[in-house]
Amino acid sequence: MRDTFLVFGAPLIEETEIAEVVASLRSGWLGTGPKVAQFERNFAKYLGVDHTVAVNSGTAALHLSMVALGLGPGDEVITTALTFCATVNAIIHAGATPVLVDVDPVSLNMDPAELRSKVSARTRAIVPVHFAGRPCDMDDIMSIADQHRLAVVEDCAHAIETEYHGRKAGTFGTFGCFSFYVTKNVVTGEGGMVVARSDEEARRIKVLALHGMSHDAWKRFSEEGFKHYQVVECGFKYNMMDIQAALGLHQLARVDTQWLRRQTLWARYNAAFADLPVERPADPAPATRHAYHLYTLRVDPNRAGIERDAFLEAMTARRIGVGVHYLSVPEHPYYQHTYGWKPTDYPHAMRIGRETVSLPLSAKLTDADADDVVAAVRDVLGRPRL
Ligand SMILES: Cc1ncc(COP(=O)(O)O)c(C=O)c1O
Repeated sequence: MRDTFLVFGAPLIEETEIAEVVASLRSGWLGTGPKVAQFERNFAKYLGVDHTVAVNSGTAALHLSMVALGLGPGDEVITTALTFCATVNAIIHAGATPVLVDVDPVSLNMDPAELRSKVSARTRAIVPVHFAGRPCDMDDIMSIADQHRLAVVEDCAHAIETEYHGRKAGTFGTFGCFSFYVTKNVVTGEGGMVVARSDEEARRIKVLALHGMSHDAWKRFSEEGFKHYQVVECGFKYNMMDIQAALGLHQLARVDTQWLRRQTLWARYNAAFADLPVERPADPAPATRHAYHLYTLRVDPNRAGIERDAFLEAMTARRIGVGVHYLSVPEHPYYQHTYGWKPTDYPHAMRIGRETVSLPLSAKLTDADADDVVAAVRDVLGRPRL
């Protein structure tokens, strides 16, 4: 048994980002400033795009994108039944009505055939979520969007490194939205990024992210001298701080080495669980790059001989942190009361949500940590150690 609890999703933080944060603190410039601008440029370079706006969460990125689409009452936005609540809440906060589609049980991404069947005269946008870092079927989704003249806002919270047919996730839609939350592949504590298609849209997002103040507002206390600002629309307080970007700059510089580490851990788990009565994640699809954000097992009690929640408890008792991504959206009472959604109307998402377990997959994991995870899973399922 481990001496310490293995925290699920603990990020790999190195001395370089610690020093950069300390430098920010010492400089006296903690808020939005040069490090945020640099982080935006570096992120744009990584994705091969021109327009990026850093914000203080992935949720803010999604919300601002919805607001920028000009959605309003009566407009419908289609997303997946298997996602974090933030995806759906962003649609609701923009004043639109969310519509869910079930997922493909292999990819765990929105099923394009289901999506097609949910498009109505009121549909304005589609929000695909590249679940666990596996790209959605963007050919089908973009062709449905083009056919019906719908906007696409990609939820890339799991998908910084993801590619589909040679193209990076977040570069297909009207907007791409990223998260740098503590468990994500690049971490700023809290943080997010919007990828826009034009300078004009990026500027609008930037203005909306800071109270609707004219776009150079953050410079108003810089050495260029005080600048008056004008409030040009009713915005939000969603700007990223330099101390967050200080972390992000160094995290982003290591994004591909950390990806390689997670790929190794993923392969190690796949080999170690091959004989177990649980379902492992599907292999990445051809001509794609998986971001390896989550490694999930499906614990079907009829096969595994243990209920999912008992499995979670047994892992915790063995000092291994685990997660659930996610109970399907219609399982939550708010949505049931407000939209009348029933889990059984989205059977794949429901079943996955009730069976799924996420194992630690952070680049911070040592080989010994990974061995502990493997030993705990095998032990809980009553199988001998390898
Ligand atoms: C799929 C998905 N969408 C949106 C979010 C929201 O991102 P954040 O936590 O940065 O607000 C998250 C993560 O938390 C997520 O996993």
